[in-house]
Amino acid sequence: MLSLLLALCGLALLAILFWLTDAGRRALRRRWDAWRQRPHLFRVTRRIDHDETHFSLHLTPVGGKCRPFIAGQYLTVLGPLLPAGNHAERRYSLDRWDASPGEYGLTIKKEPMGRVSGWLHETIREGDELQCRLPEGDFVLPEIGDNAPIVLIAAGVGITPLRSMIHALRARASGPVTLFFTARSLPGLIFHEEFETLAREWTSFRYHARLTGQDDMWEGNTGRFSAADLVTADNGRAHYLFCASHAMIEDLSQGLRDKGVPRSRIHYELFATSAGLCGNFTMTVGEAEIPVEGYPSLLAAMETHAIPAVSDCRAGHCGLCRRHLASGSVEHGPGLACSLRPGEFLPCIAVPTSDIRIAA
Ligand code: FES
Repeated sequence: MLSLLLALCGLALLAILFWLTDAGRRALRRRWDAWRQRPHLFRVTRRIDHDETHFSLHLTPVGGKCRPFIAGQYLTVLGPLLPAGNHAERRYSLDRWDASPGEYGLTIKKEPMGRVSGWLHETIREGDELQCRLPEGDFVLPEIGDNAPIVLIAAGVGITPLRSMIHALRARASGPVTLFFTARSLPGLIFHEEFETLAREWTSFRYHARLTGQDDMWEGNTGRFSAADLVTADNGRAHYLFCASHAMIEDLSQGLRDKGVPRSRIHYELFATSAGLCGNFTMTVGEAEIPVEGYPSLLAAMETHAIPAVSDCRAGHCGLCRRHLASGSVEHGPGLACSLRPGEFLPCIAVPTSDIRIAA
């Protein structure tokens, strides 16, 4: 009887210890997440203006060291205060990678109606301080063998996370790696010389660049890449990583699937096109009637007009920004990565296809 009692006590003790350990782990996790999520102060140690709209910022933490990150991740930058009293926030991919980074690098395109990119471009200089959250993000290299081909496809400033991945792939001598890089004009092919040099020095790296617009200074190929171009780098095992606009990803990923590439080998990150939203449409919220053309997203238009909007990922993943459509229509494209109920839409990625009214 006594031994049974002791055994039961032992089991109860083990259960309590297990609960404590599990609870402790979760509490630690919460504290770590809270620490990561709080803004940290960074100093701009260098600013490089590539042309009138593209610029790079080098950042070092004030009173600390850069934490290692995974190639492809981003920093969240806190921009100017919004009318609602909170900071406008934008995620910018880290544009370089090092196992022990001495600084973080961002390369940004000033968007025509970009609240944060415009603010950074106009006001932030070397020596200034910026608030940023620590690196995070899931658009990273897939776990594959070192010799599986990697095909990277970037449009314009979408090159930034892919450049970071190229640095990481080179550091671990992976290969083969093929980069397809396109932009409307020559200034949009940021880091073009670096990739040309890399293609000469690193035998496992292939580089294809194209302009979709006219530029008298450009002597290379023009026109869009097709899925047929991309599969030339495939051997039945290649993984494709895109950082481009909705339209380009939709077109090329469908083309790849038509050629038999399984969905599991296609990965992507979306970014707003520099042209912003197209179409002479309005978004009505309560009494406010907002022409949305040119805004990077419906969410950005809402923020600019002090329409309360909650957001996190700004990329169709978290679902936090979801709203109800009272009338009109939108399209989400391939970035939609959370489930929506009928009538719901995500202002961070949805593109209006008519005038829309958002339910109160
Ligand atoms: S902010 Fe995350 S889905 Fe829109």
